Amino acid sequence: MYFVSDRPLIVAVDGPAAAGKGTLARRLAKELGLPYLDTGLLYRAVARKMVLAGRDPARDNGVAEARTLVAEDIARSDLRVPEIDRGASAVAKQGDVRAALLERQRQFGRETGAVLDGRDIGTIVFPDATVKLFVTASPLTRAERRLLQGHGGGGAGALERIAAEIAARDAQDAARASAPLKCAPDAVVIETDGMDPEAVLRRALSIIGTKLGSGVKADISAEPG
Ligand code: DC
Repeated sequence: MYFVSDRPLIVAVDGPAAAGKGTLARRLAKELGLPYLDTGLLYRAVARKMVLAGRDPARDNGVAEARTLVAEDIARSDLRVPEIDRGASAVAKQGDVRAALLERQRQFGRETGAVLDGRDIGTIVFPDATVKLFVTASPLTRAERRLLQGHGGGGAGALERIAAEIAARDAQDAARASAPLKCAPDAVVIETDGMDPEAVLRRALSIIGTKLGSGVKADISAEPG
């Protein structure tokens, strides 16, 4: 376990949809021996609960679902489908839903440190995170990656369709009033066009190594104190 200035190591990984931040964050957590939280799953689970209750995430408020989320809601296998992509983006605009999920995210890894990925980890959830990474890629690269993962149903126009969906979600995430997607001023940007996951991991580990090796070097220790 790593501690920096007596605080557990928090690595914030933010960025737009399909930029590779989930893959990076999961691999970083493994590499660093830290717990990992994909915070997008919280918003997805809220949207799924609403749909199951016959409510519309685009129209109805999801704060009751956000307050009562349990681990099984987040572990469901039906959270990464287009209906829930749209539903999660809609509930993520609701300020009271975000507030209800905030403490849960802050608690995660408070004792042990953690890697968290999302849109507002470095700006709102952990503004004092030890390391902040902002992972991005061009819309075309992101659409191609989604297509390779089997999204979009294939066929003519699939790439354009996915690119349009990604652009719409980006716009919604960046334009919302509550915790919009934006790069923290002290985040390091990783532009992943043309990089494979291994190269992205190496780059991130090098950024973390530099960060830990510079200003905070004297304070890093295996245990607090
Ligand atoms: O990362 P993802 O695609 O699973 O996220 C689903 C939605 O939730 C997406 O529209 C952005 C939103 N989200 C957010 O607003 N804040 C986060 N920390 C994580 C996700």
